[in-house]
Amino acid sequence: MARKKIIAGNWKMNTTASEAAALAKDVVGAVSGAADVDVVVCPPYVNLSAVAEAIKGSNVKLGAQDVHWEAKGAFTGKVSCDMLKAVGVDYVIIGHSEQRQYFGETNETVNKKTKATLAAGLIPIVCVGETLEERESGKMDGVLESQTKGGFDGISAADAAKCVVAYEPVWAIGTGKTATSQQANEAHIFIRSILSKLYGTDTAGAIRIQYGGSMKPDNAKELLAQSDVDGGLIGGAALKASDFAGIVQPK
Ligand code: PGA
Repeated sequence: MARKKIIAGNWKMNTTASEAAALAKDVVGAVSGAADVDVVVCPPYVNLSAVAEAIKGSNVKLGAQDVHWEAKGAFTGKVSCDMLKAVGVDYVIIGHSEQRQYFGETNETVNKKTKATLAAGLIPIVCVGETLEERESGKMDGVLESQTKGGFDGISAADAAKCVVAYEPVWAIGTGKTATSQQANEAHIFIRSILSKLYGTDTAGAIRIQYGGSMKPDNAKELLAQSDVDGGLIGGAALKASDFAGIVQPK
């Protein structure tokens, strides 16, 4: 089944509002010719409005880096789906390994956020991935299975088909160590097999699985050529428009 590629830039905790607007404008210029791929930028919350303005009328979509599952109320520091929608967000990164590692994200909170995001009509980018220790001790499949099953628990096949999954091996994030294209594809095939067990092969075949972890213009082409790699979630290289564009349209 043909899946449209999706490349998303995760800007993490980088850029002030003016820097974000300038970067977004540069991205718009650099990827304007990319017709056959979905392009998303995910700036920090406070810069969403500035970036929404900068990408208006372009082929670049807006994403957020997190969300809270409640609609509103006494949740200091949190932001809801409706708030994100109101500033033009279409995609939400959920369960990034940095959220899991530093901010107490669990499979249960990933699941709540994914459900809230779908209910609001936004597209979740559900992140899964093993640490180096988990990979080396043979726990990788179990970790990917529990993160995938946990994240999708109670979600219908129709909703699951709308989701994007990001496979991000923790040991490859920001380290310069990329999974080989074969390692990435094997993990993607494994994740898709879990989704098949949950939803059947048609739905699993429709879900796009991005690779994330030190993806760069010079390794993007090979990674994106793999059968089950349907895009990328890009950290460091998303902060330079020309590098990001080199992944969106790899040479
Ligand atoms: P990286 O980050 O491209 O800098 O490795 C990817 C991510 O964490 O989404």
